[in-house]
Amino acid sequence: MPTIIAPSLLSANFLNLEKDIEMLNRSEAEWLHFDVMDGVFVPNISFGFPVLKAVRKATKKYIDVHLMIHQYDNFIEEFKAAGADGLTVHFENSIHLHRTIQAIKKAGMKAGVALNPHTPINVLSEIINEVDLVLIMSVNPGFGGQKFIENTCSKIAACKQLIEQKKSSALIEVDGGVDLTNCKKIISAGANVLVAGNAVFASTNPMQTIEELKK
Ligand code: DX5
Ligand code: ZN
Repeated sequence: MPTIIAPSLLSANFLNLEKDIEMLNRSEAEWLHFDVMDGVFVPNISFGFPVLKAVRKATKKYIDVHLMIHQYDNFIEEFKAAGADGLTVHFENSIHLHRTIQAIKKAGMKAGVALNPHTPINVLSEIINEVDLVLIMSVNPGFGGQKFIENTCSKIAACKQLIEQKKSSALIEVDGGVDLTNCKKIISAGANVLVAGNAVFASTNPMQTIEELKK
């Protein structure tokens, strides 16, 4: 399948978000990546429902919400109502991951699970057939513009192996430090979705960068 590009709005221009979203609407990016941070699970605070609702009005593209918050269970339906197409939670702060995945799907969204750099792929062996997406963090979550952790490529390969072995249909998404210098090896390792924040928005020609990442 062709690689899906998911530009991360964390690196967009918040003073003129509409302009950046219009650019993404015209681009080859299929998804918009939306990072929600609470200052507890990660050492940063980003944005939430009011911004998501506004973004929803400005785009028909798939909105891929990445939750980096504690205590998300009471908000699952609210994320759907605000415009999320997919909702990804972290393995590291999920006590009842199976229940959460079912709740996300019941609310009408694609369900994803994210792994921090230190978390091995094998923790997913009993849940891989339930999830639509595995998000492999290739930086420690919390900030855009960090350096890609090289060990991620072997994790992507291990994830692909698990998916094939269990006959799962989950997609593999890679998030953090993805750019034009490393996208090829990330895709070769088995990634289906590339998140790119800094690489797209700090580029002089974001639309062209998206096209090049896709190639
Ligand atoms: C980091 C976020 C990422 C971030 C990626 O915690 O999950 O989605 O926006 O940004 P870049 O591509 O700049 O590393
Ligand atoms: Zn993210």
